Amino acid sequence: MTQHPNRESNASRSRRDVLKMAAAAGVSALAGPAVTGCGAPRAGADLSHRPPLTTGPLEFVRIGFVGVGGMGANHVEHLLKVPGAQIRAVCDIVPEKVARVQDMVAAAGQPKPAGYSRGPRDFERMCEVESLDIVYNAAPWEWHVPICVAAMQSGKHAATEVPAAYTVDGCWELVETAEKHGRHCVMLENCCYDRAELMILHMVRKGLFGEVLHGECGYLHDLRDIKFSRDGEGLWRRAHATKRNGNFYPTHGLGPIAQCMDINRGDRFDYLVSMSGPSRGLQLWQNEHLDPDDPRRAERYSLGDVNLSLLRTVNGRTVYLVHDTNLPRPYSRIRTLQGTRGIVSGYPDRVHIEGRSPPHQWEPLENYAAEFEHPLWKTDSARSATAGHGGMDYLENLRLIKCLMEGRPPDMDVYDAATWSVICALSETSVAKRSRPIDFPDFTRGRWRTAPPVGIVEA
Ligand SMILES: NC(=O)c1ccc[n+]([C@@H]2O[C@H](COP(=O)([O-])OP(=O)(O)OC[C@H]3O[C@@H](n4cnc5c(N)ncnc54)[C@H](O)[C@@H]3O)[C@@H](O)[C@H]2O)c1
Repeated sequence: MTQHPNRESNASRSRRDVLKMAAAAGVSALAGPAVTGCGAPRAGADLSHRPPLTTGPLEFVRIGFVGVGGMGANHVEHLLKVPGAQIRAVCDIVPEKVARVQDMVAAAGQPKPAGYSRGPRDFERMCEVESLDIVYNAAPWEWHVPICVAAMQSGKHAATEVPAAYTVDGCWELVETAEKHGRHCVMLENCCYDRAELMILHMVRKGLFGEVLHGECGYLHDLRDIKFSRDGEGLWRRAHATKRNGNFYPTHGLGPIAQCMDINRGDRFDYLVSMSGPSRGLQLWQNEHLDPDDPRRAERYSLGDVNLSLLRTVNGRTVYLVHDTNLPRPYSRIRTLQGTRGIVSGYPDRVHIEGRSPPHQWEPLENYAAEFEHPLWKTDSARSATAGHGGMDYLENLRLIKCLMEGRPPDMDVYDAATWSVICALSETSVAKRSRPIDFPDFTRGRWRTAPPVGIVEA
């Protein structure tokens, strides 16, 4: 098989290494379904001049939903308020969850959607049988790639919860399937639609920070009780911490920073280095909260409680990225962006703009809201959508459905999904190799040079 030139260096070596390490560590037990076949990219011409994928406009958008647990049911709730969105089919391995969502949809005045709950691959039957425009999934991580691939192979667009994939092969499989079938594959990175992130993007586009040079971000969220819960994520998320060590959840912090830095749209991530500290938090929780005869006491964890990665772009920008989910701490995504003319930083949100802020002092970001509120956040529907992470989940669904109906490219594409998600695999490889630099694959195959940046979009 001809190797694509972009994968000849560390990236292709790292892919093999990840697979080897995964096999050695028994990660296959987590892998659930095998990632089928097309891990290697097509032999690659430079695709710099290929325009973004567009598909024909739709009068309404027929949706099939796979995985309606916590986040899936949340999406359905929002989609029922989005003009043009129709929930036509629902799939979950738990029949009661399917029935609950069928009732939600009917209660909202739409026809009761078809239900699929004949086991973990019933989404394939749904994709084959149903006439749908898009298949959403909010299933456990190991199912994201198979569900998206089944959707696209049957002619549907795909929307997946985060991360889109956690292996290099999985990322390539999403890119190649989307390209082969001419379908969108969108990762539902809701944090790109949060109010502060969109205000910051607006300020970047208006030039307030000058040239953007550096970002600091992450996912810092005490998930110990969720990881040990008896339902929901407690059934699958903790298992990853027994086998893997790296950044499992890079996209919430990184997605908005990547948009501000025009990643895949004028710049691209070049390489990263990553290191993890000791693993203590889950073991402590286990000892202090579980009954003496609870079998989960036998688990041992490989995930370092704090994982740090440094990313560099080909244009020389830097990003500091953190994953921190096993220790007592208040929530943060850090949300720092620095340029030649100023800096913004989160938790609490504050900003310093040279020539505008008092010298050497922070101001509240809110001081800039009157002038730089993002248009999406000026709509009543966004401001009143307090459910679902305070409105951002509604906005991400609103934008995706609107783009599909208008036949425009979605705000985030399959290259964003692959590039932001591949950090899961690259960080694991770097951690396992004493923090050696690991190259990012260029999933765009050169298109990053010509693709247009994310603009200031309207509702
Ligand atoms: N963007 C966000 O803010 C956010 C927040 C929470 C979770 N998530 C993501 O959403 C996804 C789901 O997380 P969650 O918290 O809803 O977990 P969850 O466990 O509550 O929901 C997962 C659902 O998938 C179902 N499922 C499992 N395997 C399936 C299969 N093969 N086919 C069909 N259904 C299947 C489960 O029965 C469950 O109902 C994860 O990828 C997670 O990372 C994102």
